[in-house]
Amino acid sequence: MNTSHISSIEDQNALVFTGNHLLGIEGLSAAEITSLLDLAESYVDFNRQEEKSLTTLCGRTQINLFFESSTRTQASFELAGKRLGADVMNMAVASSSINKGETLLDTAMTLNAMQPNLLVVRHGSSGAVKLLAQKVDCSVVNAGDGQHEHPTQALLDALTIRRNLGCLEGLTVAICGDILHSRVARSNILLLNTMGARVRIIAPPTLLPDHADRLGVEVFHDMRKGLKNVDVVMMLRLQLERMTAALIPSRREYFHHYGLDYDKLAYASPDARVMHPGPMNRGMEIASAVADDLNISLIHEQVEMGVAIRMAVLDALSRERSGGDQ
Ligand code: CP
Repeated sequence: MNTSHISSIEDQNALVFTGNHLLGIEGLSAAEITSLLDLAESYVDFNRQEEKSLTTLCGRTQINLFFESSTRTQASFELAGKRLGADVMNMAVASSSINKGETLLDTAMTLNAMQPNLLVVRHGSSGAVKLLAQKVDCSVVNAGDGQHEHPTQALLDALTIRRNLGCLEGLTVAICGDILHSRVARSNILLLNTMGARVRIIAPPTLLPDHADRLGVEVFHDMRKGLKNVDVVMMLRLQLERMTAALIPSRREYFHHYGLDYDKLAYASPDARVMHPGPMNRGMEIASAVADDLNISLIHEQVEMGVAIRMAVLDALSRERSGGDQ
């Protein structure tokens, strides 16, 4: 096994990130974000090795508590913890005592009594993860809370952009689609603004939050105008499960106006890259041909970066808990 990556990872003690929890991008400085991205960069190389086991979190217990469905986030947090040597337990929420009426906080306190070191939580209510973090003794990572934040998604997106375009500062990034329901959009807007990128959001008025213009972004309703000369096109999933009213006329019409195809993409910079956090609704917000075009699509790389970013976050939080002595 090539151990050179391990020593370089363990040598990175100059972490600027100092939080006990990662609850959101809001409040993180550019230096903290850069520090997490740099640490994750080491893990990208490490994850491409044949053998992928470290002892960084040996003896630590990580519980993944997902109240909403997930493929990418839960799997990558599990892999991240295991590759760092933690004991990882995925809580089976569907068969837990939540079904018998136990509350979120009672569930959290019950798990807390088992002395975990890290709790990774996804919940359908905005603010639920922060509330839980106030009640437990361990570090808490927000794996997505309602329409509020999905901080590790924004970090992995930033790492993907930085690796492909060299930097974040000065880039123009268009975030397109269902902004209203998207915690991914919110975390990305916060991160990209902090890192000096220009952000455009493109959506029909029905899929924008109130006061979208106060988010520090340029707002467009026309895809072709909004995509003009952008460096990155970040598509969002239509979150049909969160729509309580008819917010789009029809799926076909939505794709006609807001679905990313080669025709609309032609308005972006010739070197523009396409991203999507997944899961995708193919043919609704993005054409399959664009999503699968390896010359422009970074979607698979986003998934790969997800493991590295989550390793960096778990590592950084455990360093903070142990007083930075690792
Ligand atoms: N992007 C994302 O959060 O995907 P999952 O819902 O599959 O975790």
